Amino acid sequence: MNIILLGPPGAGKGTQARLLVEERKMVQLSTGDMLRDAQKSGTEMGKRVAEVMARGDLVTDEIVIGLIEEQLTTSSGKGFIFDGFPRTLAQADALEALLTKVGKSLSAVIEMRVDDEALVERITARSTCASCGEVYNDNTKPIPEDGKCSNCGATEFKRRADDNEDSLKTRLMEYYKKTSPLIGYYYAKGKLRPVDGMGSLAEVRHEIEIQLN
Ligand code: AP5
Ligand code: MG
Repeated sequence: MNIILLGPPGAGKGTQARLLVEERKMVQLSTGDMLRDAQKSGTEMGKRVAEVMARGDLVTDEIVIGLIEEQLTTSSGKGFIFDGFPRTLAQADALEALLTKVGKSLSAVIEMRVDDEALVERITARSTCASCGEVYNDNTKPIPEDGKCSNCGATEFKRRADDNEDSLKTRLMEYYKKTSPLIGYYYAKGKLRPVDGMGSLAEVRHEIEIQLN
C-alpha cells in the first residue's frame, strides 16, 4: 500500500507518518526531512535550498522529484508514505510516472483537515528530538519531565528555522496557492480520503486506519 499524507503545514503529517511506520512497517518519505538532512550534511543542494525553506517558499520541483526518485529505487518496506510530497500538480504527475516505472501504484491520499488557527498554535509550539526526529508539542505532547526523548533517550531538542509566524504565513500561502489544487486532482482520480485532523493523535490515527481498510 502506497499513500500520500496531504495537508497544510502543522496538520500532523509527520506525526501520523511516524505512527504508521511503527505500526504498519511502512517507509516514510518526507521531502522536508530529506531537504533538512541535505542542509545538515552541507551538500551544495542543501546550501541552495536553506534560504528558500527558511522563508517558507517551495523548493523547485526538479530537486524534490529527484529526491523521491532516488528513494523509490533504493528503499523497501510495506509500502511508502509520501509526507509533504507531492506539493504541486507537476510533482503529482511525476509521482504517478515514477510509481509506474517501479511497478507500483498509489492506494489512497489521506487529506488531513485542520483549522488554520490550530495550525499556527501547533507549529509555534513544536519541537523535535535532535537525534531521532520524534515530534513534540509544548501543549499536546510535551518533552518528558526527565528531559529525555521518549523514543531514543537523547537530551537535545530543536525548533525548526521556518517555525516562526512570518515563514508560516508564506508556507500557508504556498499551500493554498500550489498544493491545495491537489485535493481536487486526487478527488477526480477517486483516491481522496478526507480525515478530521482536529482530534487527538490517537483519534486521527484511528480515522486514518479506517480509511486505509
Ligand atoms: P515540511 O517539512 O514538509 O513541512 P510542512 O509541510 O510545512 O509540514 P510540517 O512538517 O510543518 O507539519 P506536519 O504536517 O508534518 O506536522 P507535525 O506532525 O510536525 O516542509 C518544509 C519545507 O521544505 C517547505 O516549506 C518547503 O520549503 C520544503 N519542501 C518540502 N517538501 C517539498 C516539496 N514536495 N516541494 C517543494 N518544497 C518542499 O505536527 C505539528 C505539531 O502539531 C507538532 O508539535 C505535533 O506534536 C502537533 N500535533 C500533531 N498532530 C496533532 C494533533 N492531532 N493534535 C494536537 N497536536 C498535534
Ligand atoms: Mg512534517
